[in-house]
Amino acid sequence: MQAFVKIKSGSYRNQEVRDEVFPLIKQFQLGSKGGYITVDGSGRFGKDKIRVTVASPTDYELVEAPEAPIVAPQEDDEAVIARIAERFEILDDMTKAVLNGDIRAMIVAGPPGIGKSYGIESQLEKANLFDQISGRRVKSEMIKGTATALGMYKALYKYSDDNSVIVFDDCDSILLDDVCLNLLKGALDSSKKRRISWLADSYSLRNEGIPDQFDFKGGVIFITNLKFDQMKSQKTRDHLDAIQSRCHYLDLTLDTMRDKILRIKQIARTGMLFEDYDFDQIQQDEIIDFMTENQNKLREVSLRMAIKIAQLRKSFPFKWSALASTTCMKSI
Ligand SMILES: Nc1ncnc2c1ncn2[C@@H]1O[C@H](COP(=O)(O)OP(=O)(O)OP(=O)(O)O)[C@@H](O)[C@H]1O
Ligand SMILES: [Mg+2]
Repeated sequence: MQAFVKIKSGSYRNQEVRDEVFPLIKQFQLGSKGGYITVDGSGRFGKDKIRVTVASPTDYELVEAPEAPIVAPQEDDEAVIARIAERFEILDDMTKAVLNGDIRAMIVAGPPGIGKSYGIESQLEKANLFDQISGRRVKSEMIKGTATALGMYKALYKYSDDNSVIVFDDCDSILLDDVCLNLLKGALDSSKKRRISWLADSYSLRNEGIPDQFDFKGGVIFITNLKFDQMKSQKTRDHLDAIQSRCHYLDLTLDTMRDKILRIKQIARTGMLFEDYDFDQIQQDEIIDFMTENQNKLREVSLRMAIKIAQLRKSFPFKWSALASTTCMKSI
């Protein structure tokens, strides 16, 4: 039988939880950041398994099943859209701050295809345009895909002055390589002086006239799909904790399927998501409805998937949904 707990005093992601009843998943446990209890938070926070921080087991009590189902004060769609839009505005603001030199380092994490790269790239482009007008030059580059340690060292050197910003986009392999990780730690450090060193002798560096140590004064943005706190290896997690504590960390996680669908609606509303396809409102809605109906079957629910389906919708007006079912869905 389902057990319930009444949490007298606790918190979940900086939100207070006081005298609220939840279905219990797991009793009190001690984690690295203190005590917590695991409950089903879908009614209240839209997420079915959450850890509510509590100081001790006395902060909650087991209670009888509530007579009426717990009705969540459901956030309506508009409120969710506003919340998501706000999070991406923060991404824009923080990127601008890195470009201005006010913030030196930031990590942006979130699931695939939701607009992380797009958001940052747009700000870099705007800054470049602005530079041309204002005469101030910000050098910036987005490094996409894997990077070797030496390649990373060279890139950091190239963009080491205080008018430079370097973005490592989808370079997650860096996080699994000790040498890369140490370079990244150095570059993302919030201390005033960030000295970066190459410890081995390198013909390639000498050949290119790159010193084996230098002070890094540029801005760095690291974009990743990984959730730092869910990495399995303890060693990697320790490294990532060290990185996370050194710089700004912006989590763009869209926690639920509903969040993801509403992110797509939010961008569709701007008119930019389907701008290349000349769709009327009904056709746009059809795509989003198709995704909503098949959300659990689609390989991914993302802006990228919406664009893929839009391409099919455009090329095959009569059988796009059959094609999307074949090409965009999981095989089981
Ligand atoms: N605000 C937006 N307006 C229009 N299109 C967008 C917007 N944001 C993202 N897109 C489009 O959605 C797709 C996915 O976006 P993007 O590549 O930025 O995702 P991502 O979060 O970086 O994904 P990944 O983690 O896989 O790299 C791209 O084709 C992009 O052009
Ligand atoms: Mg990306």
